[in-house]
Amino acid sequence: MVYTSLDDLDFRFTDLPVLSRPTRVVLTTPTHFDVEYVINPHMSDNVGTVNKEVAFQQWKALRAAYTALDVTPVVLNGQPGLPDMVFCANQTLPFYQPERDRRGVVLSRMHANERRDEVPYFAELFAEQDYAVEELPGHLDVDFEGMGDAIWHPGRFLLWGGYGFRTEPAAYEALSELLDVSVLLLELQDPDYYHLDTCFCPLDSEHVLVAPAAFNDEGRAMIEKAFDTVIEAPDEEARHQFACNAHSPDGKHVLIQEGCEGTLDRLRAEGFQPIELDTSEFLKAGGSVFCMKQMIW
Ligand code: ARG
Repeated sequence: MVYTSLDDLDFRFTDLPVLSRPTRVVLTTPTHFDVEYVINPHMSDNVGTVNKEVAFQQWKALRAAYTALDVTPVVLNGQPGLPDMVFCANQTLPFYQPERDRRGVVLSRMHANERRDEVPYFAELFAEQDYAVEELPGHLDVDFEGMGDAIWHPGRFLLWGGYGFRTEPAAYEALSELLDVSVLLLELQDPDYYHLDTCFCPLDSEHVLVAPAAFNDEGRAMIEKAFDTVIEAPDEEARHQFACNAHSPDGKHVLIQEGCEGTLDRLRAEGFQPIELDTSEFLKAGGSVFCMKQMIW
């Protein structure tokens, strides 16, 4: 089932199957990372400005942060000619079906031509790791950018699906059938928040960090219904420092771009422990922590 508004909801969140936390993280080396083209507003003044040395140091600090939290990295090499491949949340949607004890990935159909050749490298990696590698139905001509737009509700077998810029709603109809999962759709309405993961960060099953300006009333109402506590990031921090492109691997620590002071205060007030990381080189391409990793079961 795909839900677009609060009035449609015909289930209780607590009745959904429990989903365990993924414990491994895929990371892609930034060896060939750069800003070479402009496919989102954040990239527009940054073509050719990436400092690769600094980017590599920042990526290593991210990898170390995961290791320190007992999340095991699985590293894939970035490829020449694919400067955005480091954003490894986008090429797939990893899944675990609790009722079938089955894990796999659904391959993306990248909206941006420039990024289409990234996908086969991830298909190969996951096939090697014994994941079921699934595709959206062949006859369906839709864009789908993996976990850039499709985000699991922590602890529940329930998917949130952003659409409007990169992923098309029809992709979620297909995903819902393919995985036998309910999907809650959120329309994105501001080009700075072009992927759901730029404005929506579920921290645990009860808490979510959001950039309210990214959503319409319908979307905000669904988010408020599904989570006990909605933490709002100040718009400046979400828009320019990617405060909501954060990630909590354990429901306690939150890896987040450094310097998002208002967001940090609000996270701490709710009992979370932020870990600040500098992802400034990656912000130039319109990405930060969340999209530089892919959690897998
Ligand atoms: N330059 C990349 C793009 O526009 C950045 C992707 C960042 N990923 C994300 N999930 N927000 O596609």
